[in-house]
Amino acid sequence: MTCEKAQTLRERLHSTFYREIREVLTHPVVRQMRSYRHHGSTDCYQHCMNVAYYSYLFCSLMRWDARAAARAGMLHDLYLYDWHTYARETGEHFHGLTHPKRALHNAELYFELTDREKDIIRKHMWPITVALPKYREAYVVMVADKICGMCEVTHHFEHRLRHWAARAWPVQSRHR
Ligand SMILES: [Fe+2]
Ligand SMILES: [Fe+2]
Repeated sequence: MTCEKAQTLRERLHSTFYREIREVLTHPVVRQMRSYRHHGSTDCYQHCMNVAYYSYLFCSLMRWDARAAARAGMLHDLYLYDWHTYARETGEHFHGLTHPKRALHNAELYFELTDREKDIIRKHMWPITVALPKYREAYVVMVADKICGMCEVTHHFEHRLRHWAARAWPVQSRHR
């Protein structure tokens, strides 16, 4: 594939992604996720968008159900609280285990979901949540979630490390 063809394919996938997911992306309840910090400095909305986008790309290339992967990827963490303070405020210490159910409950209040989309949201924390995902798109979202989470945390610490290094060893100006 030439560079130009790859660029065209990328642009086409990019615009079909936004078309497929517009209803979810622009919903006011989904946009509430912007208020909650998730991994490092990435908020919950941006994290879900990262997961949805890469899951959509992969499933499109494999000719699987990319729409379900994108929609459920965007809704997979719709639990709507700050998990950093949640345990202290509520006494509930099992966020990792319980939030997929909460996200699914919230998602079902506002969207008509297929069985595949429900499975993707419910099982995205596998293997912490024991039941095996039923659909291949659920495995894609589960893996994308873990990779995106790691990249977001790494990016945050890299940024802090650079900031700390710049303060510890400031670059001397040549024109003094
Ligand atoms: Fe999650
Ligand atoms: Fe997630």
